[in-house]
Amino acid sequence: MLKGKNIVVGVAGGISAYKVVDVVSRLKKQGANIYVIMTKAATNFVTPLTFREISGHPVVVDMWAEATNWNVEHIALASRADLFLLAPATGNIIGKIANGIADDMLSTTVMATTAPILMVPAMNTNMYLNTIVQQNISKLTQLDYYFMDPDCGKLACGTEGVGRLPEPEAIVEKVIEILKTNHDFTGKKILITAGGTQEAIDPVRYIGNRSSGKMGYALAEVAAHRGAKVTLISGPTHLVSPPGVTIEFVQSASQMQDAVLAHFAESDIVIKAAAVADYRPQSMSEHKIKKTGETLHLILEKNPDILLQLGHLKKHQILVGFAAETQDLLVHAQDKLTRKNLDMIVANDVTIPGAGFNTDTNIAKLLYRDGRIEELPQMSKKRLAEVILDKIHIECRK
Ligand code: CTP
Repeated sequence: MLKGKNIVVGVAGGISAYKVVDVVSRLKKQGANIYVIMTKAATNFVTPLTFREISGHPVVVDMWAEATNWNVEHIALASRADLFLLAPATGNIIGKIANGIADDMLSTTVMATTAPILMVPAMNTNMYLNTIVQQNISKLTQLDYYFMDPDCGKLACGTEGVGRLPEPEAIVEKVIEILKTNHDFTGKKILITAGGTQEAIDPVRYIGNRSSGKMGYALAEVAAHRGAKVTLISGPTHLVSPPGVTIEFVQSASQMQDAVLAHFAESDIVIKAAAVADYRPQSMSEHKIKKTGETLHLILEKNPDILLQLGHLKKHQILVGFAAETQDLLVHAQDKLTRKNLDMIVANDVTIPGAGFNTDTNIAKLLYRDGRIEELPQMSKKRLAEVILDKIHIECRK
């Protein structure tokens, strides 16, 4: 199941560290390469020798030990790891990571990795339920860290409650679930729009909006990762182009319309995350407009509604729109869903903190043409992209 996967296992100082020996042994039996990093406190519970014997690789503990090849390679693993498993994740290590502290080999390597990170908390019940620990967990969850809930039962400190490390089989199952590469969009062509359009007033000025493009870029990245052939039509942004995605840059709504229409017929799924300007200056001044009067009148004319047009042209395509509103969210979203002939609309109230433009998170409601409404909690735009694609995948199978 895990053949050839590189898994870094971070062991922090908790009594349940002994159970992680079994986890490492099981992961190894599944074919994974396991590299263990321990905190100094963890070595009071299990010796590095035990993990070395079970994993078949040297164990790193001390960041300040003389640099050996092995230590250097271990840091390189931060970027080569397919998954980082932190078990037991103590209140201390969770707190350090949530607050950007890197003061030992384990916390430093976690900070350096771009791999998915699975945290398995285990600690005394009151510590686990402590508001600060819970806030740290919720902060990390929003940043896409995976968490397993601890089990309930008798704890090493003699009390009973939540806080036990889950059973090794359950941890291994979760690792497999995260690493399972999902190529469920292989063979599908997805057209995504992102960012805000800019409507020129004169050679130096334009009418724009606050869209960052983050949601559309996250969708493009995740869709490509899941096997889709993605074309991203992007307004001007400062974002890095997602790997494996064909990207076309446009400025105005009418340029976006041309680009979208050129790809529409061949697309299976269209997701219109772009914030398209509804109006543009009727004419663009050839030269910079000079500051001559006390007031300046611009005459604006209506831009094409690209999504409305796609709704009319639609044949086999699944059509997904976005509705960013400041009031009467569901009423407006429902109206756009019906009027533009969409299969799904992603609605969010941009006045709510954590749901607006230029944030890394969003709080969305998903509305479907059969009247269903799903309310999602606050989550990162990347996680929301995963959820939206999960839902589209279900719609595709109908
Ligand atoms: N949209 C579009 N072309 C436009 C305006 C919007 O394709 N000219 C798309 C957006 O990409 C989005 C959806 O339509 O997926 C809703 O956009 P929004 O700006 O919220 O709605 P509008 O239809 O423009 O309505 P209003 O501005 O009155 O809220």
